Amino acid sequence: MKLFDVYPLNDITITKALGTRVWDDQGTEYMDLYGGHAVISIGHTHPHWVKRIEDQLEQIAFYSNSIKIPLQNELAAKLGEVSGKTEYDLFLCNSGAEANENALKLASFHTGRKKIVAFKKAFHGRTSLAVAATDNPSIVAPVNETDNIIFLPFNDADALEASFKAQGNEIAAVIIEGIQGVGGINVAASEFLRQIRSLCDAHGAVYIADSVQCGYGRSGKFFSHDHAGVNADIYSMAKGMGNGFPIGGIIISPKFKAKHSMLGTTFGGNHLACAAALAVLEVIEKENLMLNAEKVGAYLMEELRAIPELSGVRGYGLMIGFDVPESHKNLKKDLLFKHKVFTGEAKPNVIRLLPSLALTMEDAKTFINILKTTIAQYQP
Ligand SMILES: Cc1ncc(COP(=O)(O)O)c(C=O)c1O
Repeated sequence: MKLFDVYPLNDITITKALGTRVWDDQGTEYMDLYGGHAVISIGHTHPHWVKRIEDQLEQIAFYSNSIKIPLQNELAAKLGEVSGKTEYDLFLCNSGAEANENALKLASFHTGRKKIVAFKKAFHGRTSLAVAATDNPSIVAPVNETDNIIFLPFNDADALEASFKAQGNEIAAVIIEGIQGVGGINVAASEFLRQIRSLCDAHGAVYIADSVQCGYGRSGKFFSHDHAGVNADIYSMAKGMGNGFPIGGIIISPKFKAKHSMLGTTFGGNHLACAAALAVLEVIEKENLMLNAEKVGAYLMEELRAIPELSGVRGYGLMIGFDVPESHKNLKKDLLFKHKVFTGEAKPNVIRLLPSLALTMEDAKTFINILKTTIAQYQP
């Protein structure tokens, strides 16, 4: 058997990782400013995370959701404490797409409605309704196509207002990334998020904050929507939640009433995943990683803005994007293969930085120097 060939791969085999460094099978060291799609939140193989998983593995790795799993309650309490959303309830699953599926389903159950407002350039996952609400027709299979999604331009207050005016009583939910990730690091304007809040309130719709990529402290606040001072009804999360251990979840405002069997999963909230997720929150808290993300992110953005060849530097905390000119379109590839730095990209010619929230100021400075050297090589 061979692998189903769906991923365009870099010819690199990573065999070891620690903090913001990874090593390939030849022993070559790389700086990781991508964290495998924004997944590495507290740093690769953080010793506390490793120990908590190892200790849990010695006890029990999995049992289904037909018995009490106190680690889930512990995780809910810790998540409430670190995020500040103490009144919300937690439902655990396994990935970002699954979190969004559950969020959308819950919104539809709650309102009895079918229409979902999503935005241009949004990415919400590759499954059923999550992919239908994703603005990329090439990954939507015919069976996923539905008339229930209304795509609106991002940050367009008039279009949103008009849509609610036309069919507000049919809209179950508005789903929005506080900072679009796959779409190229596009920050939702605070006024726009506040407008979503008030229109959802006025029309009885549900505000879903897809925080799979921009959440979990990455923006310098626990949820990027916190920068706008609004509370969403449901926050979906995954990626940084387990620091590489697969886990996702939604937190649900007290206005929703749970009913047995309304949501469910086999693997979601298993013992091992909860241990990993608890370790992540403990480290975020103990090492003050949200503050670090804010501080190091602000430094990076200031330095990036001072590089004349780059434009459109944007983001919050350690979720940063910038545009590179067509003449520098090999920048990401050169950073990786010539200078051993992993970064992310988005089309066309956008570089995304999504490092661990523990990125040090020293590493940030090293990166800026490497970036300047690389850019200088393109000069005539
Ligand atoms: C904002 C957002 N939502 C949802 C997802 C889907 O997450 P997963 O790949 O874990 O299903 C992603 C993945 O990139 C994402 O960036």
